[in-house]
Amino acid sequence: MAGRIPQAFIEELLGRADIVEVINARVPLKKTGRNFVARCPFHDEKTPSFTVSPLKQFYYCFGCGATGSAIGFLMEHEHLSFPEAVETLAAHYGLAVPREGNTAAEPQEDQKRRRLESLLRLNQEAAIFYASQLRQEEGRGAVSYLRQRGVDGQTAKRFGLGYAPAAWQSLCTRFEPGLLVEVGLAVEQEGGGGYYDRFRDRIMFPIRNRRGQVIGFGGRALGEGGPKYLNSPETPVFHKGREVYGLYELLETSGRPVRILVVEGYMDVIALAQQGIDYSVGTLGTAVTPEHLQLLFRYSDSLIFCFDGDAAGRKAAWRALESALPQLKEGRKAAFLWLPEGEDPDSLVRSEGAEAFGKRVQGAEPLSEYFFRVLGEGLDLSRMEDRADLLKKASPFLGKLPQGAFRAMMQARLKELAGNVGVEKKRWQSSRKLQRAPLRRPSLEDRLVALLAHYPDLYERLPATFRQAILDGHCGEFMAVVFSVMDEGREECLEDGLRNTPYHQRIRECCSNQLELQSLQDPGDELLAIVSAMEKKVCQRRLESLARKADSVGLSREEKEELRRLMQAKHA
Ligand code: UTP
Ligand code: MN
Repeated sequence: MAGRIPQAFIEELLGRADIVEVINARVPLKKTGRNFVARCPFHDEKTPSFTVSPLKQFYYCFGCGATGSAIGFLMEHEHLSFPEAVETLAAHYGLAVPREGNTAAEPQEDQKRRRLESLLRLNQEAAIFYASQLRQEEGRGAVSYLRQRGVDGQTAKRFGLGYAPAAWQSLCTRFEPGLLVEVGLAVEQEGGGGYYDRFRDRIMFPIRNRRGQVIGFGGRALGEGGPKYLNSPETPVFHKGREVYGLYELLETSGRPVRILVVEGYMDVIALAQQGIDYSVGTLGTAVTPEHLQLLFRYSDSLIFCFDGDAAGRKAAWRALESALPQLKEGRKAAFLWLPEGEDPDSLVRSEGAEAFGKRVQGAEPLSEYFFRVLGEGLDLSRMEDRADLLKKASPFLGKLPQGAFRAMMQARLKELAGNVGVEKKRWQSSRKLQRAPLRRPSLEDRLVALLAHYPDLYERLPATFRQAILDGHCGEFMAVVFSVMDEGREECLEDGLRNTPYHQRIRECCSNQLELQSLQDPGDELLAIVSAMEKKVCQRRLESLARKADSVGLSREEKEELRRLMQAKHA
């Protein structure tokens, strides 16, 4: 690993860089008074609330709260790590990034970095060579193979497809063999008798990282015989378990895809893109790893996995589910698309078209349903023993979910399924209770929920910090669940969104008890009044809990700071 970047250099770099210039090159800015504005690149909006201050050298979005320096912007916008963003910014201003650490090691680090760079460059040149072969006489077979599989020139170009000639030494006569071996493009003959190309007479699929650098290749045989696919081996620049095929090409189309479809093969990604479904990536035939998921969740909150419906597919799907659980933070979703027997996404999308395939994607089985379906298999939930079984099986999995509304809902669903009252009986009881119970005076929460149910557009007008506090559970589970439903854009019918949750009845009561809210003169005023009353309540509750904690176990530095701010706000 390279050493730390000295803080002094970061300061110097930020001093030299102009945030307006950096952002304007990526998101065209408009000047208004002292500042610059644009439509926010980090959330969807119609009017610009993204503001860049040349004076303070930072950006701020009044809509979503995104904020940071030039480095922060590059990290967010280009999906770079901190050192990568520093490198990018420094390169723009012609500065070399110094590294801390013992000076004797530095030349070695330098050497290593140069070596990696030359491996990447070699891959790039090999990709160019392979692509050029499609235009040669020798590549005609490859072109007609691609055509026969429905791939046109434009798609081939977009994915940088190529052809490795049948000769034993196409690359070996053009590039340095030692380097070719290191990057996996050539093989040394046993006994040191020379070198030959690893990929021969194959369609070549360059695998690019998210910065567009070619890190490895897949190669498909044109005919029968030999392995159908060959892949680059693990090399200093290629780690199969951490990369997916097609991510760079996908992000070129959309930096923040609404969803990412995870498929298995190279040709699946290509065929889907060819048919206009340009949001898929391939796992290169390996199992879905936690690293894959971590990478993909950085770009989209919704992942859909394609699996065969057979035993092997179901096993692989369950493994993917297990890897996904710890990563299912607020707002993230996973679903499973089951392929009909004998089909893969390539064959399906070509036979039934993009529209029908898109419907399959829409209808993919949500992780929650898949989870309870599998665990409930073979159980008879009218029997207490089986319900206990379900509880025992499900609990450890749900324990892996991060805290939040999704976990709360999954646990509520489990309680409902394994509860010790039969479902029929419970329904009867609750309707009886409803008849007898006196009308509850609506709380602030009930009022807010009813207001949002009547006027869904108001949700957008809630302050971002308030929304977050609710989603973090500061006002209880009911509110957290309601807000997470609205956050997912399912606010059109809140009652529908809450179906299958323990709160379905409560939302109905909320609305029918407060019909007067439907005819408000200015619902926005009412919203603000409720929010400010609730904010006070939330602050007060948080204050009390921090004060209690201070008395018992003590506070961390952040908590002390939070307490100070809350006290200030209270007295302001
Ligand atoms: P499949 O056997 O399902 O092939 O392997 P495919 O994707 O449908 O290929 P086509 O349609 O016949 O061209 C799925 C993935 O597994 C990896 C490849 O990444 C492939 O895309 N694989 C498969 C290999 O690495 N080597 C092999 O020999 C076969
Ligand atoms: Mn296939």
